[in-house]
Amino acid sequence: MGLMKQFFSQTRKPEGFLGKIMLGTMNSGHAKMADWGMTHLSGTKTAQVIELGCGAGRNAGELLKRFPEAHVTAIDYSELSAESAAAYNQSAVQAGRCTVLQGDVSALAFPEGSFDLATAFETIYFWPGLEKCFAEVARVLKPDGTFLICNESDGEDQTAKKFEKIIDGMKCYTPEEIEAALKIAGFREVKSNHHPSKPWITVLAKK
Ligand SMILES: C[S@@+](CC[C@H](N)C(=O)[O-])C[C@H]1O[C@@H](n2cnc3c(N)ncnc32)[C@H](O)[C@@H]1O
Repeated sequence: MGLMKQFFSQTRKPEGFLGKIMLGTMNSGHAKMADWGMTHLSGTKTAQVIELGCGAGRNAGELLKRFPEAHVTAIDYSELSAESAAAYNQSAVQAGRCTVLQGDVSALAFPEGSFDLATAFETIYFWPGLEKCFAEVARVLKPDGTFLICNESDGEDQTAKKFEKIIDGMKCYTPEEIEAALKIAGFREVKSNHHPSKPWITVLAKK
């Protein structure tokens, strides 16, 4: 495998030396898009948040700021991501406001109805089957709970199409494909937004 392919493949599950370098770029690389995505959460009331595929943990930190009364659980199936997210949010972890766990979104280790809000930034591209994983997110959300998906790709932009070819197992989805999978997984009130000038999208769904 070429070095470029090896490096970009670290976005799927950061591991080893290249994974550490990739994690070092993720927080700043996704910050603007994630902050835009979070503006769609205004008015959401939440006590328990789950941040799925948390990477290096910056978005969990932002959620802690935006929801000062809330507890944020951040999970990622990469050991390295979970370690980075825990380090990034160390003071909130020590204060009992944040928990960081290694875990897979396709089998979440939480009882039904545990969370008010679930978020997923730049991660669903790698999930093993959208409908199955979305059903798992629906299961752990409370009735009326909210799920926010935020992607840099609208499934049609050429940059993302290039990355799909480089990164094994990556799939970029259109808002329509995401909406359809959410509905099959049992979500109601599904609504997508497209950034006015970039291929960024959010999809908000209510359980
Ligand atoms: C491109 S990174 C995005 C990280 C972070 N959300 C951000 O916006 O910076 C994708 C992350 O999703 C995680 N991930 C991918 N599939 C996952 C799964 N099935 N369960 C949990 N985490 C997953 C990867 O390990 C990686 O840390």
